[in-house]
Amino acid sequence: MLNAANRTNQELMSLRQEHVPSGPFNITPIFARRAKGAVIEDVEGREYLDFTGGIGVENVGHCAEQVVGAIKEQAEQFIHTCFHVVMYEPYIELAKRLNEVTPGDFPKKTMFVNSGAEAVENSIKIARYATKRPAIIAFQNAFHGRTYMGMTLTSQVKPYKWGFGPFCPEVYRMPYAYCYRCPFGLEYPSCEIHCADYLEEFFIGHIAADSVAVLIVEPVQGEGGFIVPPQGYFTKLKAICERHGILFTMDEIQAGMGRTGKLFATEHFDVIPDIILTGKSIAAGLPLAGITGRAELMDSPHAGGLGSTYGGNPIACKAGLAVMDMLNPDMLASAETLGDKLHKKLTDLQSRYEIIGDVRGLGPMIGMELVKDRKSKEPASDEAGDLVRRCYDKGLIILSCGPHHNAIRILVPLVITDEQLERGVAIFEDSLKETVLSQNK
Ligand SMILES: Cc1ncc(COP(=O)(O)O)c(C=O)c1O
Repeated sequence: MLNAANRTNQELMSLRQEHVPSGPFNITPIFARRAKGAVIEDVEGREYLDFTGGIGVENVGHCAEQVVGAIKEQAEQFIHTCFHVVMYEPYIELAKRLNEVTPGDFPKKTMFVNSGAEAVENSIKIARYATKRPAIIAFQNAFHGRTYMGMTLTSQVKPYKWGFGPFCPEVYRMPYAYCYRCPFGLEYPSCEIHCADYLEEFFIGHIAADSVAVLIVEPVQGEGGFIVPPQGYFTKLKAICERHGILFTMDEIQAGMGRTGKLFATEHFDVIPDIILTGKSIAAGLPLAGITGRAELMDSPHAGGLGSTYGGNPIACKAGLAVMDMLNPDMLASAETLGDKLHKKLTDLQSRYEIIGDVRGLGPMIGMELVKDRKSKEPASDEAGDLVRRCYDKGLIILSCGPHHNAIRILVPLVITDEQLERGVAIFEDSLKETVLSQNK
């Protein structure tokens, strides 16, 4: 067996192409050797600044000492018993911690699964079981995973849904509060958040309210383009849901665990969800996701109705506990400072580069939308792709998002140093300059 460390990126790429299908996509052509904090080193020893955090998974940084320590400690005790066969303390302890810190001053319960998509699936099972209603409301530009229900709830067709139908029945889609491109052609605040009030009309034209089990929504749309709704949006939606006995689920899988400078993005808004989904950064890279909800809801499905062989694996839960310790008030305060710095830097770039149509985000969950011209707002999709490639060539890994792939999103580990941040932003600006110049040729 050859040691992978001795192979070049190109050699590994040939093997990848031979043995792994093309469906599982790749953003870069490199293979990791090691990673620490906000830096990934490839198998050839080249270092990259990572502004993606493995798609929002490394809020506490790659290979944080506390996380690695917790993983080692647990692996030496036992790796797996299956929670449904022989239980273990880290699962209970992490559930207790999440019940305590998630928004909502009422008794809660938490169960664990392996991925965000599975958390979404189980939350729908619980909501349907508890309400005895079939329908679900999701949103335009939503992303909730790639399993059949996750994919059905996801909005964007290509690449997520194209060719994979038919999808799950009883999923209905509302417009989201995308103020930069208001689906109703209105402007905030004079719109008085009509897009939320529209839910009442939706019950007339699309699905009867008393058939709806749950409305599932992201506090900040992630894959959908880093879209932040205005204050008051969720408050209105939740009030309408309450009036009609509809549950309200907040999908915090990308926006949670300190990403926005608060432990949960929901805390930026005046709303208390019935169910909160966590994933991604919850265990710093080990596969773990949580469903936390009102105790009576979570208890409604019968014993044996929910479960999974690996769900809440002890090593993942131990890593999750280390992450919870790390996401203390000091780390959250420095995440807020990072968010302020990024906001200043990106709005400064926006003042100098016409191509940046919108800068938006909450704290360090920040992004920008590139447009061909600020008036028409025509998406600059090719330019965004070009920019991502140029950044990569210069040692900065960054991701696009949004239905037109013209938004650039920053999911940098919150532990990035000032020097790394300066360097990353400088690479970004150099690359942006080149992109703009190459388009003007
Ligand atoms: C908001 C949201 N929900 C669900 C998911 C699915 O999570 P996973 O990829 O762990 O299944 C994602 C992944 O990007 C997400 O951003």
